[in-house]
Amino acid sequence: MKILFLNGSPRKNGYTVNIMKCIERKINSKHCIEWIHAYDLRIRPCLSCLKCRPNKECLLPKDDAHMVWHKIHSADVLIIGSPTYFGNISGQLKLLIDRNLTAFESMPASGLEPPTPLQKGKKAVMVTTCNTPYPISELQNQAKGTLQAIEAIFKAGGYTIIGSIIGDGSPSKNEISLNIEEKAEFLAQLL
Ligand SMILES: Cc1cc2nc3c(=O)[nH]c(=O)nc-3n(C[C@H](O)[C@H](O)[C@H](O)COP(=O)(O)O)c2cc1C
Repeated sequence: MKILFLNGSPRKNGYTVNIMKCIERKINSKHCIEWIHAYDLRIRPCLSCLKCRPNKECLLPKDDAHMVWHKIHSADVLIIGSPTYFGNISGQLKLLIDRNLTAFESMPASGLEPPTPLQKGKKAVMVTTCNTPYPISELQNQAKGTLQAIEAIFKAGGYTIIGSIIGDGSPSKNEISLNIEEKAEFLAQLL
């Protein structure tokens, strides 16, 4: 299986990537793993021209967002990780996702009929980290909001979300706790 790690943190040695790498270490080596770091990419913002509808690639001049469109289509599993920024995913990750709307769902040209999910049956995992400690991290405007934003992306695609990890209180614990290690192991076994 092709497993795609989509990292929305600008810090490659930060807490978000640390947790994603922990999941990676637990995944059976027979699988093919690939990483995309959103902050390494040069991408223009979506201009809402709607020319990608119903399910074409973005019509903006070629940039790195087009490469991601193909990677999302070919991956069997998608693992999205993002730091919590104002209770949401990071800006660069949002930019990348918006540009890849039609990798996730087929939007009718009319905009009247409901969209069709394009990644039905594929598995997905969500990761976020935040400064706020538990249980405040569970609030809507904290890590919970970030997970809901990632969930919206996966639901649009029709993915089966097999679980999530929140790394809370990040300044005081940048290391991987036993609890996170166990969750990572559990999720990796479900892939
Ligand atoms: C712009 C910005 C906004 C942030 N907003 C929040 C927030 O709403 N809640 C929170 O708990 N932490 C917030 N943080 C802290 C980060 O979520 C936290 O440090 C995270 O673990 C960083 O992940 P990284 O180590 O992968 O970079 C914010 C950080 C930045 C830079």
